[in-house]
Amino acid sequence: MALNLHDIDRLFRRHGHTQYTGEPVTQLEHALQTAALAEQENAAPALIAASLLHDLGHMLEESDDAHDTHDVHATPTMAGIDDLHQYRILPFLRSLFDDDVLAPIRLHVDAKRYLCATDPAYFSTLSADSVRSLQLQGGVFDERQATAFIALPYAADAVRLRRWDDLAKKADFATPDYAHFSRYLERCAHN
Ligand SMILES: [Fe+2]
Ligand SMILES: [Fe+2]
Repeated sequence: MALNLHDIDRLFRRHGHTQYTGEPVTQLEHALQTAALAEQENAAPALIAASLLHDLGHMLEESDDAHDTHDVHATPTMAGIDDLHQYRILPFLRSLFDDDVLAPIRLHVDAKRYLCATDPAYFSTLSADSVRSLQLQGGVFDERQATAFIALPYAADAVRLRRWDDLAKKADFATPDYAHFSRYLERCAHN
């Protein structure tokens, strides 16, 4: 079940070219743009690694599926399903990375619920697909939920990741390549 760095590389090579449905980017472009924004803001290596990997859960089921890969990348929210990608990936990465990588990945969906509750301007910046998935993911946090969330370890990192995530859907955003960012994975991975 555990993935190594080679497996992660292979998932991106196999599935990275697929369109991130509902957005003008591929899965790989979205990952690279998120990581590039993190790097531009001098995030710690672990948070850059988390940014690169935050949606790997979307690519996971395709890695061992036997069915046609044509529509498995279609945004699950289109079908009214929350694919829980932020949790599904964790068992596969747990032996490879520490919480400074894993927790921001796990919390990046709840970070959207937090930001919607605490930043009035934030909601208007969300893409249509992100608004649709928000409801499936439990909706906007109330005040008590928001307070509890931001007190969690790595919640602040997850909020930073989330803002890069939301900006990383641009058709014309040139980034360094995968090999550049995979160095952060190597730095953070257990040997
Ligand atoms: Fe995500
Ligand atoms: Fe994302």
